Amino acid sequence: MPVALVTGGGGGIGAAVCARLAADGHAVVVADLDLDAAERVAKDVGGTAVCADVADPAGNADMVAWALDLHGSLDLLVLAAGIQSDVPPDPGLDVVRYRRALGVNVDGVVFGVDAALPALARSAGQVVAVASLAALGPEQANPVYALTKAAVVGYVRALSTPLAARGVRINALCPGFTDTPFLGITGRLLRKQKMPLLAPDEVAAAVAGVAAGDGTGEVWALVPGRPAYPYAFAELPASLRSDGTEAALKPFLSAK
Ligand SMILES: NC(=O)c1ccc[n+]([C@@H]2O[C@H](COP(=O)([O-])OP(=O)(O)OC[C@H]3O[C@@H](n4cnc5c(N)ncnc54)[C@H](O)[C@@H]3O)[C@@H](O)[C@H]2O)c1
Repeated sequence: MPVALVTGGGGGIGAAVCARLAADGHAVVVADLDLDAAERVAKDVGGTAVCADVADPAGNADMVAWALDLHGSLDLLVLAAGIQSDVPPDPGLDVVRYRRALGVNVDGVVFGVDAALPALARSAGQVVAVASLAALGPEQANPVYALTKAAVVGYVRALSTPLAARGVRINALCPGFTDTPFLGITGRLLRKQKMPLLAPDEVAAAVAGVAAGDGTGEVWALVPGRPAYPYAFAELPASLRSDGTEAALKPFLSAK
């Protein structure tokens, strides 16, 4: 039975991913800062729960060690833990909130991959990082959040080649607004404007679809009413030398 570890698995999208992966035949380890929530989800999906703060390297090491102690291997790491930045684009940056947003949304991805890589390399496993449409949009009301998710997209694209050398795949999914507690008051505003929202189950299905593919370094976008699709980034123009000849930036600057 393949083994999946899901961060942020105690709520919202992560909980839906746990349910979907369990239904698809994975043994699921539910990692969350909120242990009670993780235990509730684990009970529902027949998995196990572990308390982990993804902003902390030790938390990531512990959750991977827990999964390995329990199951002996790890095939799929889904990085769904994330927070709203709550840093308004006004003068007087709230440095504590800014650092926390980067800690959870960016460090949580970097530390999570780092902790799981040896196990994933042994199983030819993979990572799916839940970024956001805010990275591709970008979300102007929430620049720090957009910054963190753009960082995830850049990291996944850049990391895919070195990970491929170890037989590990990594992809990102960028969902649009999804109906979870994460949206807070924005959810009410969006509903008032009759803006369609994704259901967590739809995002979970897209995560499962990305995991079932064979690509790497891909960034999948997902909006309500449409199937997930691989987002196409524009190619960079070649540099021009002083003699007018072109110097291709590939392979120095390319996801592939
Ligand atoms: N809801 C949306 O509209 C939306 C859209 C695009 C992307 N996303 C992204 O999807 C992911 C999940 O969002 P959601 O809507 O399910 O949010 P949510 O708030 O419903 O759930 C997030 C879960 O992550 C956990 N968590 C928070 N900080 C943590 C930490 N430091 N360590 C471990 N767990 C932690 C929470 O306890 C919670 O269970 C996030 O990365 C978010 O940025 C959400």
